Amino acid sequence: MRWITIWLCLLSLHSWGQSEKEVFIADLLSQMTLEEKVGQMTNLGVTALVAEGFWTDADSLLLDPLLMSVYINRHGVGSFQGKGVYPPHSEEWKTLTHQLQQYAKEETRLGIPLLMGIDAVHGAHYTHDATIFPHQLGLGASMDVDLVHRIAQATSRDLLACGISWNFSPVLDLAWQPLWGRIEETFSADAYVTATLGAAYVAGAQSVPGVSVCLKHLAGYSFPFSGKDRSPIHLAPVDLQQFFLPPFQKAVEAGASSIMLNSGAVNGIPGHADEMLIRQVKEYWGFQGFMVSDWDDLTKLVDVHRVATDYKDATRIAVMAGMDMCMVPYDSTFSVALIELVREKAVPIERIDDAVTRILGVKYDLGLWEEQDTPDLSRHDDLAIEAATKSMVLLKNNGVLPLQEDDVIAIAGPGAHSMTALNGPWSRTWKGDDPQYDHPNAMTIYDAMQSKGKKVTWLDGASYDSLATVDWLVGFQQADKILLVLGEPPTTEKNSDIHDLRLPAAQMELFDLAYASGKPVVVVLLQGRPRLLGDIQAKAEAIIHAFYPGELGGRALVDLLYGEANFSGKLPYTYPAHTGHIIGYPYRGADLLDASFGMEGYPPAYPFGHGLSYSDFNLIDFTCSDTLMGADGSITCSITLQNTGTTRGTEVLQWYLQDEVASISPVLWRMVHFDRISLMPAGQETITFTLPTESLRMVNREGEWIQESGYFQIGVGNNSTDLQTHRFYLDMNTE
Ligand code: BGC
Repeated sequence: MRWITIWLCLLSLHSWGQSEKEVFIADLLSQMTLEEKVGQMTNLGVTALVAEGFWTDADSLLLDPLLMSVYINRHGVGSFQGKGVYPPHSEEWKTLTHQLQQYAKEETRLGIPLLMGIDAVHGAHYTHDATIFPHQLGLGASMDVDLVHRIAQATSRDLLACGISWNFSPVLDLAWQPLWGRIEETFSADAYVTATLGAAYVAGAQSVPGVSVCLKHLAGYSFPFSGKDRSPIHLAPVDLQQFFLPPFQKAVEAGASSIMLNSGAVNGIPGHADEMLIRQVKEYWGFQGFMVSDWDDLTKLVDVHRVATDYKDATRIAVMAGMDMCMVPYDSTFSVALIELVREKAVPIERIDDAVTRILGVKYDLGLWEEQDTPDLSRHDDLAIEAATKSMVLLKNNGVLPLQEDDVIAIAGPGAHSMTALNGPWSRTWKGDDPQYDHPNAMTIYDAMQSKGKKVTWLDGASYDSLATVDWLVGFQQADKILLVLGEPPTTEKNSDIHDLRLPAAQMELFDLAYASGKPVVVVLLQGRPRLLGDIQAKAEAIIHAFYPGELGGRALVDLLYGEANFSGKLPYTYPAHTGHIIGYPYRGADLLDASFGMEGYPPAYPFGHGLSYSDFNLIDFTCSDTLMGADGSITCSITLQNTGTTRGTEVLQWYLQDEVASISPVLWRMVHFDRISLMPAGQETITFTLPTESLRMVNREGEWIQESGYFQIGVGNNSTDLQTHRFYLDMNTE
C-alpha cells in the first residue's frame, strides 16, 4: 500500500518540478511519527545493542534481540557506528551489518534502512583483515593528489565489504598546534594542501557507489591554545575564514554529504552551539547534507563548556544551532530529550523535518533502499607500500644514507621491532596499542631488514620512556652504523595530551649512548607530531620523519634506507627547534622579531615543505610574464627543474604567495600550488604555473573575501624558505 502511495505521489508531484528523491523523502516524512523522526536523528554505538554492556571487550558482537527491538523498533534509531574493543573480521562485519539492515528494513513500521558509520581514517583500520595505510599526515607529506584519491577509493571498497557506508573521514583540521596529539590525522598545516588533498579524498571515496564521507571537525578543533585535546581554542575570526574553512568548503563542493562538529570551543563558542558557523555552511555554501555531533558532545556542553544547564538544554542548543544528528552514543537520552522539547515547542517541528530530510537524502543517495552488493575485502599492500614510500621525509643526511649492503647495523629504540609503532593510533583499536591484532603479513622494521637479508642486530630493552640496564655501548660498538627508531607511543584524543614537546628523556639517553659509541647514528622518527630533537638535530648523521606509515611502512623504510627507493616526502608542518616555539607555518612578520631587535626570531629546526632526496635538484630560468596584474588578470611563471644527481628522483615544486602589505597583518608566505615531478639523472623539465587572481584574495575585518591593490610576491622552491621570487603589483582599478 505504502509503495502505491509513493508511486501516486511521484506522478502528481513530478509535474511540480520535484525530483524523485524529493518526492520519495517528502512522502516518507509525511508518514513518520515524531518518535521515528527523532530516531533518524539518533546515532548509537553498535555495542548499545549488545547485552554485555557498551564497553564489552568480548571477541565477538552478539546482537541482543531485545535491545534491537528497543532501539531500532521503539526508538526508531536510524544510524549506528563503531564497534566493540576488538576489530571484527570483514566477514563478521558483513554478517553483523546485514543482520541489522534486515531488521530495520523488515521489522520496523516504515522499513527505513540504517546508516552504518565508522572511523576509517587511514584505511578501514577497524576491520581485522583490512590494509592499514599511512596516517593522513604522511599523505600530506607526499603531496600526491592521485595517491590520496586511490587510497580513499580502496578504503571505501573495504568498508563496503563490511556493509559500512559512512566513513568519518577525511580530517580537514589544520596542523597549526605542534603540541596537539591528533596532528597525524590531519593532512597539513597548509590550507591549500589540505583543501586539495581533502577534495581528492572526497572524490575518491565517493566514487565508490554506496559510500559517503564525513568531514571533520567543523572548525578549528586542531588549534587548542594549550595543545591539550578539546581545550579552549583561540582563533582569530579572519584566520578561521581564510585558512580553516576553505578546506571544508572545497570538500563540500566535491560532494561531501556530512560534516562532524568540533568538540572544542572556539573563542568561547562550542562547535555544537555555533549557529552562525553552521548557518554559513548550510545557507551560504549551499550544503545539502547533514551535521553530526562528535561523540557524546551534548554532555560536554553541560559538563565541560558549561553553556547548557542540563542535557535537555544542551539538546535544544545543539539542534537549534543546526546539528542534525547526535552521536549520542550510549542510549536514548537524546531522543527522549528532543521529543519533550518538540512537544513543549522549544524546538519547532520544521527544524526536525529539515534535519530528517537531510539525513534521509544521504541515505537515498547511498542507495540504501536498494539491495546492497557487498564485495569481498581485498588487500592493497602495493598501494600501502607506495604511500609509505612517498610519505617519509628525509630531514637530514650527511652522506651516511643510503646504507651499504655489507654495513653491519645495530637497530634499537621503541619503534625498531613493533608493529603498533608503525601503525599508530586508530589501528584495529582506538589507541592502536594492542599488538594481538597485528596483521600476519605485516613486518616491523627489524623483521623487514632481516627478510631482505640485511646484516642487522636488534638491541632490545628500550621502551618509549625507560631503558633496560644492558651494556648499550658494547652493542653499539659492534656495528658499523646505528639505526635508532624513536618517537611516541600510539594513542589519541585526551590520551595523547603531553606536557612537554621534547622527546622523552629515556630516548635522548639512548641517543647519547649511541652517539658515544662513535658510530654514525641514523634516527627514524615514528611519531604523529614534531617532538623536539634537542642535540639529535646536530649530532645524528641522518634523520627521517616517518610519521605513522602503517602496516607496510617497515618494508618501505628499508627500501628507502638502502637506496632501493628514493625519498620525496615534504614536511607538512614546521619542525620547531625549541619548546617556546609553537608558532609554525604559516607565520606573520611579527613572528620574526627577536630579542636583539633583529628579525631572526623564527629559527625552526626544519621549515614547512622541507625534505631531502638522494637526487640533486636544481632550479633555473625562473621567469614570469608580468609585473602588473589587473583585477581580472593573471601572471604566468615558469621554471626549469633539473636532476643533476645520479639517482632517479621526485621533487615537489612548491609555489607560494606573499602579500607585502595588507589591511590585516598578512602571513609571510602561503602555498598556492604544488607539482610532483619525477626526473631521471640529467633529466629536466620546465614547469609553468598561472597564478589566478583568486589566489590573491584575503578576508577583511568584516569577514568578507576581498582583494586589495598593492605589491605581492610569488615564490617558488623546494621548501617554504629557499624561494626564488618575483614581485608584482596588483592594481584593482585596471582589468
Ligand atoms: C572523535 C571523532 C570520531 C568519533 C567517533 C570522537 O571522539 O573526536 O574524530 O570520529 O569519536 O569515533
